[in-house]
Amino acid sequence: MDRKPWLVGVTGASGTPYAAAVLRGLIDAGEDVDLVISQAARLTLIDETGRGVRDKHWQQDVGSWVSRDVSRVRYWSAGDIAAGPASGSYRTKGMIIVPATTASVAGIAAGTSKDLLQRAADVTLKERRRLVIVLRETPLRLSTLDNLRTLALEGAIIMPASPAFYAGATDIDQLVDFMAGRVLDLCDVEHDLYRRWTGTLGAARMVAHAE
Ligand SMILES: Cc1cc2nc3c(=O)[nH]c(=O)nc-3n(C[C@H](O)[C@H](O)[C@H](O)COP(=O)(O)O)c2cc1C
Repeated sequence: MDRKPWLVGVTGASGTPYAAAVLRGLIDAGEDVDLVISQAARLTLIDETGRGVRDKHWQQDVGSWVSRDVSRVRYWSAGDIAAGPASGSYRTKGMIIVPATTASVAGIAAGTSKDLLQRAADVTLKERRRLVIVLRETPLRLSTLDNLRTLALEGAIIMPASPAFYAGATDIDQLVDFMAGRVLDLCDVEHDLYRRWTGTLGAARMVAHAE
């Protein structure tokens, strides 16, 4: 059967735990995954996890980073501009950029395709496939807001890394999983990463407080 992966791009914003959680969610759901990690993201990975990802040993490095079997993952070097995802004829279900930098947002909005990750995002947009951008930066300057507007007008889903607290998270992993779960929701990927809001929970709490 035709392989149709989700493409995951990791850029050099703070938030590599979000990327790991999304990757775990996709793998656990049995999805095929194509992975591109920008040069800057290698630095944030080292900074935030103490781990590097080496192109030659990516299976070992990514496997231990996400604590999963990565046999359904295909890794592409960010410098490999001739890689599969650089072409619209390479089929994917869409692309998730997690975390996304303001620099990548600018590059994708301008269409400059400075590396495979940005080219793949460009392709995702031109092929009218789903593009989820999990931006991590605050505050935002006007040019970033303009770039996000441009991307939203082109159909990208802008999803700031902004976990909510209503799901009852009691530790950081649960906040991270909440974000990852919301990303997977946008991709129609089944998961059990957070407790969904049902409405009744909030009403019951209000009643309890009113009494
Ligand atoms: C430790 C560290 C954390 C960073 N965090 C962010 C961030 O949260 N958001 C952001 O937009 N850029 C952040 N940057 C800056 C980007 O890494 C930088 O702009 C880089 O050129 C982005 O390249 P890329 O988009 O190709 O990954 C960070 C850099 C470092 C070293």
